[in-house]
Amino acid sequence: MRIIGNIAEMREWSEAERCAGRRIAFVPTMGFLHGGHLRLVRDAKARADRLVVSIFVNPSQFGPGEDFTGYPREFDRDRELLENESVDVLFHPSVEEMYPQGAQTHVEVERLSLPLCGALRPGHFRGVATVVTKLFNIVLPHVAVFGEKDYQQLQVIRRLVRDLSLDVEIVGHPIVREADGLAMSSRNAYLTGAERVAAVCLSRSLCKAERLFKRGETLAQDIVQIAFGELHKEPLAAIEYVKLCDAETLEDIERIDAPAVLALAVRIGKARLIDNRVLARKESGNRG
Ligand code: PAJ
Repeated sequence: MRIIGNIAEMREWSEAERCAGRRIAFVPTMGFLHGGHLRLVRDAKARADRLVVSIFVNPSQFGPGEDFTGYPREFDRDRELLENESVDVLFHPSVEEMYPQGAQTHVEVERLSLPLCGALRPGHFRGVATVVTKLFNIVLPHVAVFGEKDYQQLQVIRRLVRDLSLDVEIVGHPIVREADGLAMSSRNAYLTGAERVAAVCLSRSLCKAERLFKRGETLAQDIVQIAFGELHKEPLAAIEYVKLCDAETLEDIERIDAPAVLALAVRIGKARLIDNRVLARKESGNRG
């Protein structure tokens, strides 16, 4: 596995691969890799001839007072994991390399960035959209894989690729969970023993709401209520939001008559956890 920290070198590698007619897949990450990341890596590997993974803890997507400095970093362990997955290039730029002094250009996906996590983390999706656009321009992938765990992020990226006519296929990978249902996340490392047990309340509440939907309930208020009630039972959970939205536009809905997403954000101890479930009638398919 080649490790590249320099933008010009990364682009040169990709251009040579493209000239040789090879297809490049890409998985962007912030490192501290877990089983969820590795499933994305395997998915991406199967879609192309060459595979690039990036590790870059992107300062512009963290707000003031968020966990940028404390975000877990373990480069040597990550490198070994990626070597075992036969990754071709690990792109690992420095902050100075990615954000030269005086940078003042941003990518803003306007409406999709406003609700849910966007409402609580102003500027977050601007930071994500900007860094992902930059990474696409540097890595020049044909296909890039993103997790459905960060559902709003995936919709923001799909939109920006369409709006800016970027020539990259975006693939959404299903949420990868621990055996008890907790969605895998680098931030799960912040949880203490009791908090780790409590954290199962997110997936439990989504399952409960989904069962209600499958029994025929379509009223948003009732579905949100049941999910909220389940989270509320957990004393260690501080609920940030429980929202049912249109699966593509992320606008609030009153009733499910097209694919919808039930999205949660909950603080447990130091960890801010998110999870979601797409609720769709089988015949209408999943637009997510
Ligand atoms: P990070 O949180 O490291 O996640 C990297 C990718 O892994 C994202 O596409 C995320 O959705 C996916 N992922 C994480 N946990 C997952 C799980 N349990 N199941 C499925 N996919 C999962 O998301 C980011 O980094 C950054 O915002 C980034 C896109 C790299 C831009 O900085």
